[in-house]
Amino acid sequence: MLPWVRANPSLCIGNAGVGLETTRQLALHGARVYIASRSEARVNEAISKMRQFKSTVDVRFLKLDLQDLQSVKAAATEFMQKESRLDILINNAGVRRWSRSYGAHY
Ligand SMILES: NC(=O)c1ccc[n+]([C@@H]2O[C@H](COP(=O)([O-])OP(=O)(O)OC[C@H]3O[C@@H](n4cnc5c(N)ncnc54)[C@H](OP(=O)(O)O)[C@@H]3O)[C@@H](O)[C@H]2O)c1
Repeated sequence: MLPWVRANPSLCIGNAGVGLETTRQLALHGARVYIASRSEARVNEAISKMRQFKSTVDVRFLKLDLQDLQSVKAAATEFMQKESRLDILINNAGVRRWSRSYGAHY
């Protein structure tokens, strides 16, 4: 259905909500998708649920905390070691907050 996504690596940020649903749709259409997330356990749980629909989905965990620039650099380095290209970046993680809070690098 979406031939251009096949075999082209994608990176989705978020193991829940919009990010997870985007990952699911890309994976079900044949893309190799990395879920960049703070929690490997939550990503593994999400992958297990996807595999109940289609056992062959190619979804992988990439450790990333967007509030920590060292984590961002480490995630980029790890991704580049594993893949030669990034075709689709879904950069949608985040929270809806009314009060301000800042991570280590902000
Ligand atoms: N859903 C909507 O209808 C809607 C509409 C308009 C705009 N938005 C915006 O779209 C974004 C996503 O919405 P959503 O409904 O999908 O939210 P969600 O279900 O709460 O999911 C947020 C995702 O962001 C991840 N995340 C949060 N902080 C992170 C960080 N520092 N590093 C890495 N990952 C982090 C969370 O992972 P953890 O498990 O690690 O927390 C979670 O997977 C939000 O900014 C929201 O304001 C949503």
